[in-house]
Amino acid sequence: MERSQTRYPVSESADLRSVAPASNEVGIIGGGTQADGDAIAIAPATQNASPESHKLPSAARANPVLQMLYGPIIDQLAEVEARIQHEMQSPYEDVAALLRHGIQLGGKRLRPAIHLLMAKALEQQCVGNQHPPESDSHVVIGVVLEMIHTATLVHDDVLDQAETRRHVPTINAQWNEHTSILLGDYLFAQSYRLAATLENTRTCRWVGEAARLVCQGELRQVLQRDQLELDRETYFEIIRGKTAELCRVACSLAAAEAGCDEKMISQVSEYGDALGIAFQIADDYLDLWGQDDAVGKTLGTDLQQGKMTLPVIRLLETLSDTDRNTVIEILQGPADKRVKAILPWLNQSDAKSFTQQVANDFKEKALQALEPLVDSPAKASLIRIAEFSVERPF
Ligand code: IPE
Ligand code: IPE
Ligand code: MG
Ligand code: MG
Repeated sequence: MERSQTRYPVSESADLRSVAPASNEVGIIGGGTQADGDAIAIAPATQNASPESHKLPSAARANPVLQMLYGPIIDQLAEVEARIQHEMQSPYEDVAALLRHGIQLGGKRLRPAIHLLMAKALEQQCVGNQHPPESDSHVVIGVVLEMIHTATLVHDDVLDQAETRRHVPTINAQWNEHTSILLGDYLFAQSYRLAATLENTRTCRWVGEAARLVCQGELRQVLQRDQLELDRETYFEIIRGKTAELCRVACSLAAAEAGCDEKMISQVSEYGDALGIAFQIADDYLDLWGQDDAVGKTLGTDLQQGKMTLPVIRLLETLSDTDRNTVIEILQGPADKRVKAILPWLNQSDAKSFTQQVANDFKEKALQALEPLVDSPAKASLIRIAEFSVERPF
């Protein structure tokens, strides 16, 4: 089955299923294929979207679901956006153009949003809060998280030989790989310089450790390329490193800044961890079953690069010896033919529903981690972000 090129209308309703085409091939749980039928309804954005949504970064502004999710922190997110633009300037027009392309074109800004929402959700919860959610340190941390995230994406697009990111050509496609390496380095350097402006060294230390774990995850993935025996446990270790660590630190820093004790810091870190894992499983699903126009980045690269992801691991677990050998031949065959050849196998197996179920389990884990938080609009957004992470078509 080939991915279709259906374009999503950006429309009146925030319900992901109402902005999706009338096909099953949409977000991991939003497309109506989920066996247990418990996809969560997201209320229409028109009920909650702020009239100030023009302040949001472009990807969020264009999407009613994100508009709704980011409602409680819209002003701080606008500050994050302005600060990103301020940080990423250069007097040299050729470098400035690269910086604009690399970061100013919007991604979803999910990591800063999680940080700001968690800070807001914890506002009344912890004693000794020196840093109310509106304080500058949260904006700086949001910028640091987004710049680190973007640095990893710029480098990742070289590893994956990807041509499109955030609906525009990747740095490696529009410039070249040398430029990508240096832009990624530039973003890492700029992030730490900015983190070091905070009075407390905690952000530098914790973000540094998270970035180390992200790189370790990406390194393990590269070192495990074409390892068709890769098991689920190793897959989870890799995605926990490369994706969940940054979500985890977005949450733990919010709790630490809010003056929470170790127990609460660890509690909300669990949300970031489970959310990040669910988010990456959904991303791996979209790499196979997503629609290029909606996702806005080159898809199908996981198999092309010999990355074993959950749907394929599950397929191999469930096949007879003979069928397994046939699928292994596909996985060892020409890189550009693998996705097309393996999709019928995946679609005949339970790989899709299994992957949806596992993503859903991690989403549930994320929701459980939020239970001790007092109810607030920010907490409601964090709940919906967990739901969004497994329902999203992009
Ligand atoms: C992409 O992250 C990389 C993964 C961890 C799957 P996002 O999907 O958050 O990317 P942007 O920031 O919105 O472009
Ligand atoms: C890498 O995962 C995510 C990072 C931490 C850089 P992917 O390779 O699946 O991310 P995409 O699909 O290119 O965004
Ligand atoms: Mg990639
Ligand atoms: Mg991916």
